[in-house]
Amino acid sequence: MDRSPPIPKAPAPVALENRASDHGRLYSPSAARNRDAIATVLARVLPTGASVLEIGSGTGEHAVAACQIRPDLIWQPSDPDAASRDSQAAWAGEAGGAIRPPLEIDLLRQETCATIDGFDALVCMNVIHIAPWAVAEALAALAQSRLRPGGRVVLYGPYLLGDETAPSNLAFDASLKSRNPAWGVRALDAVVSLLAAHDLALVERVDMPANNLMLVFKRREPE
Ligand SMILES: C[S@@+](CC[C@H](N)C(=O)[O-])C[C@H]1O[C@@H](n2cnc3c(N)ncnc32)[C@H](O)[C@@H]1O
Repeated sequence: MDRSPPIPKAPAPVALENRASDHGRLYSPSAARNRDAIATVLARVLPTGASVLEIGSGTGEHAVAACQIRPDLIWQPSDPDAASRDSQAAWAGEAGGAIRPPLEIDLLRQETCATIDGFDALVCMNVIHIAPWAVAEALAALAQSRLRPGGRVVLYGPYLLGDETAPSNLAFDASLKSRNPAWGVRALDAVVSLLAAHDLALVERVDMPANNLMLVFKRREPE
């Protein structure tokens, strides 16, 4: 019998998952696991009647789950990936008109960000670790330039927490870097510092299942 210790299994990024399809709707296995917990936090922290820009919306399932709890939201999904945008459009009907037609936004292509309107909240889940650090920088800059007064940025994903980093997140980090050296689980301190440099203060940190965090930032108002 093989008595060697089990090799830790890193969660696969959604972009690389096998996403089942039904009439254009893609189903993400990871979204099925974390959608309800994420939507519950989003529903609590997003301002009433907020216009929400979501970056890297993937299948679009998180938008539906949030808008089903908070039908007052106006949700703008986006993604650089055409199949994901098709899925977001196909899912949108489940949210009673709250979800707008998806936009092609790639944070590494400035021209796709040029015409984005102002918004009350920017939501980005499971993106900044499966992308170069320049994506986090572009996200912070976009929020600084377009977030309306009192606006929020909400990030979801795994983070490095120094000595307290969960072993599963260390394994995930190694797995990401083996796929692309520019990817990797981001240090919480680095993300908080980056957003602080763009006038966004961390106001809430929520521990989520499977060693993920939800981070809520608020735009600093001029004195
Ligand atoms: C792991 S998936 C997460 C999807 C969804 N947010 C979720 O949590 O289920 C990462 C998403 O980020 C998007 N993405 C990757 N690079 C990006 C970039 N430069 N700008 C905007 N989105 C990007 C991918 O197309 C993909 O949909």
